[in-house]
Amino acid sequence: MNFPTATTHDGPDADPGPYRALVRRPGAQSIEVIDQRVLPHAVVRVTIADVDAAALAIRKMTVRGAPLIGAVGAYGLALALGRDASDEGLAQAHAALDATRPTAVNLRWALDRVRRTVFGLPHAERAGAAWQEADRIVAEDVHLNRRIGAHGLALLRTIAMHKPGPVNVMTHCNAGALATCGWGTATAPLFLAHAEGLPVHLWISETRPRLQGANLTAWECGQRGMPHTLFSDAASAFLMQRGDVDIVLVGADRVAANGDACNKIGTYAKALAAADNHVPMYVAMPSPTLDPALPSGAHIPIESRSGDEVLSVSGRDAYGQMTTVQIAPAGTRAVNFAFDVTPARLLAGLLTERGIISADAEAIARAFPERFLR
Ligand code: MRU
Repeated sequence: MNFPTATTHDGPDADPGPYRALVRRPGAQSIEVIDQRVLPHAVVRVTIADVDAAALAIRKMTVRGAPLIGAVGAYGLALALGRDASDEGLAQAHAALDATRPTAVNLRWALDRVRRTVFGLPHAERAGAAWQEADRIVAEDVHLNRRIGAHGLALLRTIAMHKPGPVNVMTHCNAGALATCGWGTATAPLFLAHAEGLPVHLWISETRPRLQGANLTAWECGQRGMPHTLFSDAASAFLMQRGDVDIVLVGADRVAANGDACNKIGTYAKALAAADNHVPMYVAMPSPTLDPALPSGAHIPIESRSGDEVLSVSGRDAYGQMTTVQIAPAGTRAVNFAFDVTPARLLAGLLTERGIISADAEAIARAFPERFLR
């Protein structure tokens, strides 16, 4: 795909996959992202060179996925500081970027981190420091995901030892490399397993209404040659009941201090079905996705999007043109909650960069004590 290589991705943990959701060319005062709204039908790269474009890209879901919107938000703040490095400029840009999407805590986490880094600096140094901090956020994201991958790979190897044939993993939405700066979170164990020759097969739910599973996760698996099968969201429980699923691995947009995990709408239904069918379900949680300030998932803000997304389907027509068609009678009312919260009790554990831990307050505080310091 001839993607430019960013220095921030080049460490020993680099994702060898043939595409990158976000790239900053060395020294550039801009970033390039893949427009995820047109995948898999076209691979279009978009340059983001000012804070308004960064905010719009997050709001319109040109970029999406919790870690990726955090990284784009961080670069957005750097772009803003290049234009206006005053305290007011910083506050305004932070607020504008933070308001783009409410649920994934990675966005606020990244914005706060960049703001903390630059706040005590002379104005003339702020933009440069912000670019550097954003680069560090990207590099760390790749590293955290690689660690999550290593821990998850051990889990997949154990399953493989106890059964013939491929390890059948089910996922939801896209917690892949496209949702992050490399590897993905829930997909990292799979990509590593596939690379080392462990037979794995991924069940991908289409993820209505925006179809991140069908459009993005299926594309990623195709790019990496990883066996996968797409199914309609409603078939999740049936596939588990048939014994076709060994493990469920999903990402998260925000995990509360007690282990309740917020992810794409439909995740909770998978967790219920997994519990009823004794299929272990793990949530991949890099530490920036943890929100230590929230005692439980009940406090997580759930994004409510336009009902138009439910009332229509978009794709490529027989002539190769992108098109949107209506699927319900004109005037039908629709609700569109973008996320749901899976109670911690339904989870077999959290896959983190520090290992696999139980989804409970004690285990989380033990694994990430520094996040709970005031
Ligand atoms: O609305 P989206 O596409 O941004 O939602 C993304 C998800 O729910 C992902 O599963 C989540 O961000 C985890 S990504 C590593």
